[in-house]
Amino acid sequence: KRIVVLISGGGSNLQAILDACADQSVAGQVVAVVSNRPGVMGLQRAVTHGADAITLDHTQFASRTLFDQALQQRIDSYQPDLVVLAGFMRILTADLVSHYLGRMVNIHPSLLPKYPGLHTHERALAAGDRQAGATVHLVTPELDGGPLLAQAHVAIDDQDTALSLADKVLVAEHQLYPLVLSWLCRDQLIFVDGIPHFDGETL
Ligand code: GRF
Repeated sequence: KRIVVLISGGGSNLQAILDACADQSVAGQVVAVVSNRPGVMGLQRAVTHGADAITLDHTQFASRTLFDQALQQRIDSYQPDLVVLAGFMRILTADLVSHYLGRMVNIHPSLLPKYPGLHTHERALAAGDRQAGATVHLVTPELDGGPLLAQAHVAIDDQDTALSLADKVLVAEHQLYPLVLSWLCRDQLIFVDGIPHFDGETL
């Protein structure tokens, strides 16, 4: 399968995906990486891997719609089977999301439906939660609100801070995201009318 990854930063999830494609635990190929921020480390990771590294700086566009139109054009030029959001920190328009419905996934650093949006670790700590984690979900127009595909859990310790928790969750993300992509690339996980099916069963 052909994969396009969208990033905004360091791209440690991207790296985990690139590694999984390289060792063939994911039967896919990252053909391009698009960042909305110039100069981020994730772009370098793409170059090292031999994928196209594209910067599409959202600050150079007059509106969200114009940015998303340009983004869609760039993504579509690669004819991807999967569009993977990995630390992509921009809200996408409903038009773009609908265009990729059933082909676009995201990883979010909380146990959704808890804590969509930002500052997930601070919120989990403030709530006194004993568990945190990450969720991979199908992207729909509702922010962090699409069907859940898989979650990884980590324990919250008394001495955890938002930073230490973010580190722990990120390590779990690096396992979880390639795993879900391996299912998608093998068609073990498919979407029928936007509803996930795993090995023929609805989730
Ligand atoms: C991850 O925690 C991801 O869940 C969140 O942003 C972070 C990205 O990290 N949306 P990286 O760029 O993959 O290192």
